Amino acid sequence: MTDRVLLVTGASRGIGEATARLAAGSGFRVALVSRRAESVSALATELGTDRALALGADVADWAAISGAVAATVEKFGRLDAVFANAGSMLGTSFFGTEGEDPERWRDMVLTNVYGAAITARAALPELARTGGHLVLTGSVAGRHIRRASLYSATKWAVTGMAGAIREEAVGTGVRVTLVNPGIVDTEMITREMRAKPKLAAGDLARAVLYALDQPASVDVNEIVVRPTGQER
Ligand SMILES: NC(=O)c1ccc[n+]([C@@H]2O[C@H](COP(=O)([O-])OP(=O)(O)OC[C@H]3O[C@@H](n4cnc5c(N)ncnc54)[C@H](OP(=O)(O)O)[C@@H]3O)[C@@H](O)[C@H]2O)c1
Repeated sequence: MTDRVLLVTGASRGIGEATARLAAGSGFRVALVSRRAESVSALATELGTDRALALGADVADWAAISGAVAATVEKFGRLDAVFANAGSMLGTSFFGTEGEDPERWRDMVLTNVYGAAITARAALPELARTGGHLVLTGSVAGRHIRRASLYSATKWAVTGMAGAIREEAVGTGVRVTLVNPGIVDTEMITREMRAKPKLAAGDLARAVLYALDQPASVDVNEIVVRPTGQER
């Protein structure tokens, strides 16, 4: 059988990079997406340019992300799975007593919500052709209220989006998995989070591969992975 093709957004570091590495090691051909192709070109070279493709695309730019999907299909001839994982986090306060300037909120909302939505929109017609699989990175912050956190609200949106896509996918053969990490030791987390129990990025990569490796008749809807000892 032809090796399956997986496109990963946010592949330049953290959970996306770890998942791309594990998937490539498990036989997937991988398209690696981050905002700049140069940020993923060394990884593509390491994984082998016949099996990995480095692509620059801002997930919040429709022309760019749909172009990345098209470039993947052009190189590998098919698309079997997409990991819509790119995201960003910043501190917010609705009373303005802490956190970042509201001008900076827009990019986070666009990346985490609109970016995930149009990544899905760009990929799903191709995934419908292969009976493929969409995996989205949510968060435990998309399952619990977090005081003052617009980031948490963006992940609640991803929770809802995964369900909306899954309902629309009924009858297409496409599977949809929402992966909700607790705290993961990546560049994204704050100093306060870093002092708490943490997962390694590879712990999430194994969860994604678990979902991708199920038979076509098994749709893993949601996976929540916390480090041992994380409260909620
Ligand atoms: N770390 C945690 O504790 C944690 C917990 C729950 C959920 N998550 C979620 O997990 C996902 C991955 O985060 P991470 O922890 O691995 O963070 P990370 O190490 O900071 O990686 C973020 C990735 O997203 C990419 N990215 C950011 N904005 C982008 C955009 N507009 N277009 C394309 N790519 C973009 C970055 O690439 P470039 O900067 O190279 O473009 C980078 O590859 C995110 O959705 C995050 O919300 C993380």
